[in-house]
Amino acid sequence: MSSSRDVPSVRECYEASPYLSIKHASYFAVYDELLAPYRGRPVTFVEVGVLNGGSLHMWRRYFGAQARIIGVDLNPAARRWEADGFEIVIGDQGEPAFWEAFFERVGPVDIVLDDGGHTNRQQLVTVVHSLPHIADGGLLMVEDVHASYLPEFGNPSRWSFLSFALQAVHVVNARFPGVPAPTTATGRLLRDTVRAVTFHESMVTFRVDRAQCGMNTPTSNGGESLAAADFRLKDARSATWRRVAGEGSVLRTLPLVGGLVRQLAPAVHRWRQRREAAALARYFG
Ligand SMILES: C[S@@+](CC[C@H](N)C(=O)[O-])C[C@H]1O[C@@H](n2cnc3c(N)ncnc32)[C@H](O)[C@@H]1O
Repeated sequence: MSSSRDVPSVRECYEASPYLSIKHASYFAVYDELLAPYRGRPVTFVEVGVLNGGSLHMWRRYFGAQARIIGVDLNPAARRWEADGFEIVIGDQGEPAFWEAFFERVGPVDIVLDDGGHTNRQQLVTVVHSLPHIADGGLLMVEDVHASYLPEFGNPSRWSFLSFALQAVHVVNARFPGVPAPTTATGRLLRDTVRAVTFHESMVTFRVDRAQCGMNTPTSNGGESLAAADFRLKDARSATWRRVAGEGSVLRTLPLVGGLVRQLAPAVHRWRQRREAAALARYFG
């Protein structure tokens, strides 16, 4: 994203930072897109992963003097950045107890950006234990989720961070009546806290807005109805099946033939489902 003279982009802040930071090229456009609404405001921004301190300086420049910028790292040497006006909290992002103590100390926050150790446990624990403390309108961004594909991070695994993030998509959709409700405390936390999950290359973002997490309900604008026929399930495939063997087919009402059709219907239904699955499978992978 280009920037005006007064408003530098994240990339420009990155390049102007006096200390080393290493960020993937694709992240800058995402940062500009997602973080612009928060700049120049008194937001509380947390970055997990301090290393050489370059990104702390980048965020200071980007968000402005009003922002409270907190760095988290396992390495106690990160404390040196306190001298530059950053709050530094030392601890292990993979431990739930760390986050409990962290939020007791710092209070609610607006944005958490995870650029820490990138293991499944670290990313999962950070998300689950930060979400309850992120204010409405806030963000939780997890970087380097490509770790979910890499053997050095114990992946691929059914329990990878990306598997979790995809599960979170199902949970967000559980706010539609009839979609199975989450059965775990984590599932309920996601359903009741996360308005949307967005996927960019190597980055997953959870948008927090509890007021937008209620069950979905049908609405009507009260406009004039022309009693238009609804053609859902009237496409050729569905209609043929219903005419020949579905509930309400004429064949079902005939003596003898009707009994046979009713008896065979479940098997034909299963065969149709298998055929449909094979046709759809071509679109996956
Ligand atoms: C990728 S670097 C951070 C880079 C920095 N954000 C930048 O832009 O240059 C990862 C950092 O995460 C820290 N880290 C690794 N495991 C951690 C853990 N379990 N808890 C907290 N920090 C951890 C490392 O010490 C390291 O400083």
